[in-house]
Amino acid sequence: MIGAGNLATHLGLALSGCGFRVMQVYNRTSSKGMKLASVIGAEFISDPGMLRQDSDLYILAVTDTMIGEVANSLPLKDQLLVHTAGTIEMSILSAASGNYGVFYPLQTFSGRRKIDFKKIPICVEANSKDAEDQIFEMAGKLSNQVQVIDSHNRKMLHLSAVFASNFTNFMQVIAEVLLIENNISFSLLKPLIRQTMLNVRKDHLFRYQTGPAYRGDHNVLDAHRELLASHPEYLELYNLISDNIIKYKALHGKL
Ligand SMILES: NC(=O)c1ccc[n+]([C@@H]2O[C@H](COP(=O)([O-])OP(=O)(O)OC[C@H]3O[C@@H](n4cnc5c(N)ncnc54)[C@H](OP(=O)(O)O)[C@@H]3O)[C@@H](O)[C@H]2O)c1
Repeated sequence: MIGAGNLATHLGLALSGCGFRVMQVYNRTSSKGMKLASVIGAEFISDPGMLRQDSDLYILAVTDTMIGEVANSLPLKDQLLVHTAGTIEMSILSAASGNYGVFYPLQTFSGRRKIDFKKIPICVEANSKDAEDQIFEMAGKLSNQVQVIDSHNRKMLHLSAVFASNFTNFMQVIAEVLLIENNISFSLLKPLIRQTMLNVRKDHLFRYQTGPAYRGDHNVLDAHRELLASHPEYLELYNLISDNIIKYKALHGKL
């Protein structure tokens, strides 16, 4: 396992929990790497030169901007190397090994909350059928939802995930900030957030759109804009998203 961040930790735990042996952990920051290694019974190495040559798979779970550089620092030849990113081309690994691919788990990993890998879609891609089969087989032991997905579709999935998950979470962060500033309990909003998330069981989500922009209640939109006067950055978001809802409704109506 190369990396010891959020994904490396969750994946390392899931792998060792379903019978795989993670042999080594390499990480730039030793303290984090040692911690992960000790939890999953692996050896920690502080130098990529100490990487064993006989592992079945080398998982590169480092920050996206460093994938190429870290991959090229590994002393590999034809060992199977994968990265775990949504929007990075598989070919970034081509100089590091003759056998490479992608193992992209479509889920958000943060903190220590345990995540059931069985339900996580895993997108697999490889530079040969042989490598694809090996990654697919390993992913299939972790998850019931493994699919071969090419780079273009993986990028589109990642982009959609940013809207569906990262942006949604940040919208809730703004809601929390506004309530805290006004000494109102955020827990009052939680039943609404839960109900909104439950709509995901259905399709055509615009059917479940509500709110002042959807209804065209301009007096309410103006009142909200006034309340956001001291937060120009949130006001900008409010206007942008409200305009998008109005335009989407004008184009598509209630689907
Ligand atoms: N988190 C998710 O929800 C999620 C989901 C799917 C896929 N992924 C993918 O998983 C990969 C890792 O993401 P993450 O969320 O686990 O990130 P993270 O928690 O921020 O961990 C980043 C890892 O990259 C290492 N790193 C950062 N800068 C480095 C540098 N300059 N040189 C060497 N190593 C460096 C860090 O080492 P240090 O400990 O030394 O900082 C750490 O091991 C990414 O490709 C991401 O796209 C993440």
